[in-house]
Amino acid sequence: VDDQFLPPPLQLDDKTRAQKITTRLSDMMLGGAELRRVGAVFERELERGLQEEPSSLQMENTYIPELPDGTEEGLFLALDLGGTNFRVLLLELRGGQLVREDVKQYHISDALRLGPGEDLFNFLADCVLDFVQSEGMEKESLSLGFTFSFPMRQHSILSGELTTWTKSFKCGGMEGVDVAALLQRCLHQRGLDVTVRVLLNDTTGTLVAGAHIDPAVGIGVILGTGSNGCYMERADRVRHWEAAHARVHDVCVDVEWGAFGDNGCLDFIRTDVDREVDANSLLVASFTFEKYIGGKYLGEVLRASLAALARDRESERGEYAVTLRTLEGACGARLTEADARVAQHVAAVVSNRAAQLVSVSALLRRMSRPYVVVAVDGSVYKRHPRIKSLMQRYIALLAPEHPFSLLPAEDGSGKGSALTAAIAARMASRSD
Ligand code: GLC
Repeated sequence: VDDQFLPPPLQLDDKTRAQKITTRLSDMMLGGAELRRVGAVFERELERGLQEEPSSLQMENTYIPELPDGTEEGLFLALDLGGTNFRVLLLELRGGQLVREDVKQYHISDALRLGPGEDLFNFLADCVLDFVQSEGMEKESLSLGFTFSFPMRQHSILSGELTTWTKSFKCGGMEGVDVAALLQRCLHQRGLDVTVRVLLNDTTGTLVAGAHIDPAVGIGVILGTGSNGCYMERADRVRHWEAAHARVHDVCVDVEWGAFGDNGCLDFIRTDVDREVDANSLLVASFTFEKYIGGKYLGEVLRASLAALARDRESERGEYAVTLRTLEGACGARLTEADARVAQHVAAVVSNRAAQLVSVSALLRRMSRPYVVVAVDGSVYKRHPRIKSLMQRYIALLAPEHPFSLLPAEDGSGKGSALTAAIAARMASRSD
């Protein structure tokens, strides 16, 4: 394996043990050749997705043709559904600047995540009602941006159907349902004068929020519970185009890279641990790539890897295994410093692979602009101690001719939603 792509080697006094563990983990350590092959497959799938040919990359048209230009104005509600928390926000933009931001978080129970979709959407509308009441604004006429962080088939900037649930949601009865229209109905049923103006993915929100900080932003990435990216594509390369508005120069495309490889095209990097994590997940055989990168799964990948190493060790201990286990059980967990080193090393291997697979380099090559800023948000990106530097390093290694920088776009789903609603309003007023 190519050294540049390896995490630091495992250092143990017991060299034989270190060697065995390294061998055991070797299929999770990807080298340059394998990563370049992943990139080539990604590019092929991307092209097919845009052409509406069979592909594991959906390449969804978001119908967002332009980015903030500093004229955004107004008061907007924003809903953010799909990540760690459900949030309702009230945001005010003046001359493109955010001058007010009120936020409230709501807990979504497992029953709502896994029950009928109608119940979930009624709950969302109840939260909006609660929120506007607490703001004393229940009588006001308000515009809303709905950040729905799941794959969608979009018909326009404010209409789309769920393609499939991902992460920790699996509600029934959502086939063919327009999620913006459903939300709109639930809001009206509560007597609220709130109009859904834009329906967007969190990656799109991140791209838009990032572009508000730096106009060189051309890619939006989420590295949170799930993982996904979007980028500005030439409109004439996008086949799926239902909306009436003209095909302007560029349009934001939601890649939905979490599903990359669901058709088997990436099986060459799949390990036994990945198969185990997938088999124990809520949505089996779906969004396999996300299970290598997303925060919902990284801990599971680590746990399954450590469990496999522990099983090896048990079998090494042979006839004494049961005795040892009993003794250890009696004394509580007795982990040695070497065990802790092993656990740290496995965590580094798992993180390293996740950073290598975040598919930014392929998008940079595709866009081939002189310089692209990549707006990034998500809990893993914000909290993982090494992911930023690892991503920086691997993207540069895999796309050496494409200068880029990573820009943290704090709260892309919230701010981005309001900014996108303002952009939609600007577009609508122009076509009146
Ligand atoms: C999942 C969703 C995708 C979202 C990502 C990050 O992959 O399918 O739409 O962008 O999670 O939240």
